[in-house]
Amino acid sequence: VSGRVVLPTGLEKSLTAQILHTYETRLFPSAESIEVKRAFIEKFATVLVSEFPDWEVDIHVFGSSVNGLGSSRSDVDICLTTKHRMLEDVFLLSSVLRKYGMCTYCVPRARVPIVKAWDPELRIAADINVNNTIALHNTRMLQTFVAIDGRVRPFVMAVKHWTKCRDINDAAFGGTLSSYAWATLAIHFLQTRQPPIVPVLHPPAPSLRADKCTDASPVDLTFDDDITRLRDFGRDNTESLGYLLYAFFRTYAFEFDYRHQVVSLRNGCYLSKAEKGWDQGRPSRIFCIEEPFSTWLNLAHSANETAVEGIRQEFQRAFCILRDGGSYDNVCEVY
Ligand code: CTP
Ligand code: MG
Repeated sequence: VSGRVVLPTGLEKSLTAQILHTYETRLFPSAESIEVKRAFIEKFATVLVSEFPDWEVDIHVFGSSVNGLGSSRSDVDICLTTKHRMLEDVFLLSSVLRKYGMCTYCVPRARVPIVKAWDPELRIAADINVNNTIALHNTRMLQTFVAIDGRVRPFVMAVKHWTKCRDINDAAFGGTLSSYAWATLAIHFLQTRQPPIVPVLHPPAPSLRADKCTDASPVDLTFDDDITRLRDFGRDNTESLGYLLYAFFRTYAFEFDYRHQVVSLRNGCYLSKAEKGWDQGRPSRIFCIEEPFSTWLNLAHSANETAVEGIRQEFQRAFCILRDGGSYDNVCEVY
């Protein structure tokens, strides 16, 4: 039975104030950091024009620089689109960037091959892929959720901040979850409040099974992005940020059934692993968060059983600190 979670007296207000204080003073991106990102993109465009003067290459910025969930310290995510498929070779892009003084690291065998770049002059990191446009759509989806209710942005950023401080936000190298997976989980939580704070944006669709899909499978990219109509969808829900964070920790510490349930932002509910065909093999033992567009992908696949247990313990730790009167800063104490 999942009734309303009761918070110790006075905690809800002070926790909300603490989250907003951290959001406004440390998470909200500074004007300077926005300017550095702009300068990097301009520099990167100049490099591309100098190196490939006859090629048509478009630069799209996606991820937290544009979805409203980025902080001053977030990297820049860039997608290049071009019909010159030679550029899909990450080593070619990497060698070009090195010529211009950037440090690079290639991840060629990932589902989406990327070049990780660090610009020592502007002191900024970038992840660059070529022709992987699906991320542009899920970025627009997150932007839409952020625009619907004023609590989405501080809530998701507070969750992301906690995961970064506690070292559970690194899918590529840490074997935990990406920021995108955390954002999907956090927004799904807001979607499943009673009454909901954000709506289901996607049309109903049959779940695509992993054994029947590949990255070349057609994907339905439509979703409701009519902000004018959707704005303030969550007005009937008056839960505070402090209350929401406390309830979020409790849900994933004690209530969510990691063995049988799948988080589905696309459907605004939990699905069962059995109905997705994830009750067999590796997904049956790990955390399952469905990618809202490519529904055969599990956004939490990067975390193995041990990592998922570690994540669950982090939820328990965070919940217990708040229950015992600790602060949001205590919850986010660097690991
Ligand atoms: N992305 C994706 N599938 C993943 C991981 C990421 O499609 N499994 C895309 C999403 O569009 C996401 C973007 O890549 O918005 C950037 O991912 P990530 O860096 O994890 O998230 P950010 O929102 O950029 O967070 P941060 O501020 O930590 O950089
Ligand atoms: Mg990013």
